[in-house]
Amino acid sequence: MFAVNWFKKARMHRCQFGRWLSSSRILHKYGTVSRVAMSYRRGALIVLEGVDRAGKTTQCKKLVQALQESGRPAEMMRFPDRTTKMGKLISAYLEKKSNLEDHTVHLLFSANRWELVPLMRQKLEQGVTLVVDRYAFSGVAFTSAKPGFSLEWCMSPDVGLPKPDLVLFLQLHPAAAEQRGEFGAERYENSDFQKTVLQRFEQLMKDPSLNWQVIDAAKSIEDLHKQIKTHSDTAITTAESQPIGELWK
Ligand SMILES: Nc1ncnc2c1ncn2[C@@H]1O[C@H](COP(=O)(O)OP(=O)(O)O)[C@@H](O)[C@H]1O
Ligand SMILES: [Mg+2]
Repeated sequence: MFAVNWFKKARMHRCQFGRWLSSSRILHKYGTVSRVAMSYRRGALIVLEGVDRAGKTTQCKKLVQALQESGRPAEMMRFPDRTTKMGKLISAYLEKKSNLEDHTVHLLFSANRWELVPLMRQKLEQGVTLVVDRYAFSGVAFTSAKPGFSLEWCMSPDVGLPKPDLVLFLQLHPAAAEQRGEFGAERYENSDFQKTVLQRFEQLMKDPSLNWQVIDAAKSIEDLHKQIKTHSDTAITTAESQPIGELWK
């Protein structure tokens, strides 16, 4: 009994040692405690989406910092991750240093997500909440904004990715986004294309199997942060007792 209480305490304090115990063989001797600890172990997958300059990167950083300060293990990821092999090809394409066929580019962006899935799963199972700056939704919205690409074709390579527990969509009118600075020289940075991207996002948001939360990104950075933090706290608590889902399956 003492051991059971001790393990529960370790869980409550969410300390590193408690997490180690939850994955250790010792704890598995105690059936009920083991189940509690297993459920604790999973972190949430939180995705921020939105058009360029809606404030995704700003809010991802603030959310990770706030979660860490409140004692929850959290890390930020971003897609595309330009540091990997796939990411370097994508980066050259976005910087217009190389040209690639449109289907090829789409599959490269998807491959860039898949190559990070083992790491994502590992982190989530260790209890780390992942705050992700863009995910499959951006991939689909951007390619399907090009002529001749259906939403279905664009979604298919990402079917089965770890399913986000929460997708925060930072909604900002393209005209308001433009006021936040000039577009850079990268590919896709023009307002007509961004308008079509927004329409594709709106189609994706109709999917009720996902926990979409639309946030008015015209608000101040602090107001947005508070709202995002509240949604995230709820999603983290819910995710703890659920297995990691599969996207669009
Ligand atoms: N809520 C906000 N209100 C006004 N400006 C913002 C807000 N959030 C971010 N910004 C500014 O807008 C620009 C784009 O923000 P960023 O977080 O890089 O957007 P994204 O990652 O969506 O492209 C930055 O200069 C940032 O400081
Ligand atoms: Mg950004």
